[in-house]
Amino acid sequence: MHYSIIIFGASGDLTRRKLIPALYRLHSQDRLPPDTNIVGFSRTEFTNEAWRDHLAKSAEEFLGPLFSQQSWDAFASSVYYHPGDIGNLEDFRSIAEQLKKIEGEDSSTRVYYLATAPRFFLPAVAHLGEAGLADETRGPRRLVLEKPIGRDLQSAEELNRAVAAVFAEYQVFRIDHYLGKETVQNLLVLRFANTIFEPVWNRNYIDHVQITVAEEVAVGHRGGYYDRAGVVRDMFQNHIMQLMMVIAMEAPVRFEADLVRNEKVKVLEAVRVMDSKDVAERTIRGQYDGYRSEPDVAADSQTATFAAMHLNIDNWRWQGVPFYLRSGKAMSCRTTQIVVQFREPPHSMFHPDHTTSIDSNRLVVQIQPAEGIQLHFQTKVPDHDMKLRMTELDFQFAREFAGKMPEAYQPLLLDALEGDASLFARNDEVEHSWKIIDPILRAWEETGEPPLYIYEPGVWGPPESTEWMLKSGREWFDSCPVLGEHK
Ligand code: BG6
Repeated sequence: MHYSIIIFGASGDLTRRKLIPALYRLHSQDRLPPDTNIVGFSRTEFTNEAWRDHLAKSAEEFLGPLFSQQSWDAFASSVYYHPGDIGNLEDFRSIAEQLKKIEGEDSSTRVYYLATAPRFFLPAVAHLGEAGLADETRGPRRLVLEKPIGRDLQSAEELNRAVAAVFAEYQVFRIDHYLGKETVQNLLVLRFANTIFEPVWNRNYIDHVQITVAEEVAVGHRGGYYDRAGVVRDMFQNHIMQLMMVIAMEAPVRFEADLVRNEKVKVLEAVRVMDSKDVAERTIRGQYDGYRSEPDVAADSQTATFAAMHLNIDNWRWQGVPFYLRSGKAMSCRTTQIVVQFREPPHSMFHPDHTTSIDSNRLVVQIQPAEGIQLHFQTKVPDHDMKLRMTELDFQFAREFAGKMPEAYQPLLLDALEGDASLFARNDEVEHSWKIIDPILRAWEETGEPPLYIYEPGVWGPPESTEWMLKSGREWFDSCPVLGEHK
């Protein structure tokens, strides 16, 4: 069987920085199927050779010591380029002819990867259909879509409908690169391949859950895109919702795409949708000082570069357990972490008044960059009567497993080639997520509540976020990961 990956938007950043380096790494580890060809499609006029040279430079830049000219040459011999315009049906007919030449008479598996700006999704999908490229008579035909899937519920539904007119849902792979991260997949293993967590993974033992995706970087050269998107569309609607679903879902019967995704969707269905009063009370939005002077950002921009929200999941497992989510640019450090905060022990025998509280247990899942898990628990300080101190059991991927963590795109590209959609978002998942997000964005715009707080770059968002959390009797776990000697 031949395999072809056709990348639309071949001259763009995503192709150069992520897709080609990931495919090259898979090839040099012998993990791509032997007969795999990669065909780039975009308007820039490249020859095959010129495109290969252009890609070689960036692959070397992004991969550093993992790049070798010899294995690149072996990889590049199956990389082709087809100049074309997404708006032009004839160019789809001609790439269909080129694919036939490359693949020969045999049947083939094809993955059409839309690495383009979102405005090209609709014409690309329509033209793939009209040129007969979605037809599966000669083997599987799959479509990979990058985020954003719409900018609100309505546009997401429109896009999903347009895609469904050409491809069946089982042919569609909506990528969320967070699901490609080893540490996110490990959450499924932590929860569903161990018995010790399940009995306590609920409202009886858990006080609340925090999910933080903090970035130290500012928006940089992406102002044009970011100023229209903002942190909620950029990070919450997709990545953070995915993390929340994996933390909160019930155990699927088998690790199969639809069984996993059914359970995830149930979580979103249970999230309480906020009205504008809730939004004023349960969300915080911020913008880092200096954002309005970034290139391509409006001088009076109201775009949030930081947000925090308190969601409720109304089901038996999670009733009354707040999920606090937050993300921002220009924060203290780069860290993605999930904190499962357990309840306090019900009675304190170590304090004479029995009422002084004892800091309660905490499970910290470090998604990146110090990938690992820590369980915080109380210990007796030796030789100090009954003095207690929080200590931790510390698991680090880097200490336990040799080798570098693969880039998230590697496993996802392999899954798309193999047709395994377990780690991809389904249409209803995306739409449900917008149903939660839309009212928040609408209320911010219509009521101006809560106000947009300005924060200094390099902190944990606006100070109002800290106060807001304290008002609920809780505290953000503001901790930058320690990158140990094992990294
Ligand atoms: C992208 C967002 O989807 O994820 C970026 O558009 C963000 O703004 C990035 O920086 C974060 O990804 P990661 O893998 O670095 O956490």
